[in-house]
Amino acid sequence: MTSCVYSGIVIHGLHNGESLGFPTANVQLPDDVHIAKGVYAVWVYIDGKRHEGMLYVGTRPTLSLSELTYEINIFDFEGDLYGQELAFVIVKQLRPEQVFKSRDALSAQLAKDCAAAREALK
Ligand SMILES: Cc1cc2nc3c(=O)[nH]c(=O)nc-3n(C[C@H](O)[C@H](O)[C@H](O)COP(=O)(O)O)c2cc1C
Repeated sequence: MTSCVYSGIVIHGLHNGESLGFPTANVQLPDDVHIAKGVYAVWVYIDGKRHEGMLYVGTRPTLSLSELTYEINIFDFEGDLYGQELAFVIVKQLRPEQVFKSRDALSAQLAKDCAAAREALK
């Protein structure tokens, strides 16, 4: 099976990610690209270097938002990616999008997603 490589430019999000403990790079994908809502383990490529990460595709219903976004939390990575091109490959879907009762509940789930993504990328 061949895997699809997606690529896009990192744009500014609403910066809620930092306060949730999982800062994300918001990626702008071409309009004709459609990925089903959910959370995925991904390989992320920046400047030709591969990183582990988790991708969220969804509208952030927990935060009462409605615009579809593609956000990636890149593991063990610090740096300013705004305006840069980033590519990723989906390795495994971890779960569908969910609505959480609180930001804390969402944060706790993100920690579980992170562990599940690391396991899937081993
Ligand atoms: C791996 C991952 C999974 C997420 N899953 C959900 C989810 O199931 N439901 C939801 O409402 N938001 C989910 N979020 C979105 C967070 O609400 C989002 O990261 C936050 O709004 C930060 O965005 P911002 O920095 O653009 O403001 C997820 C984010 C990540 C990184």
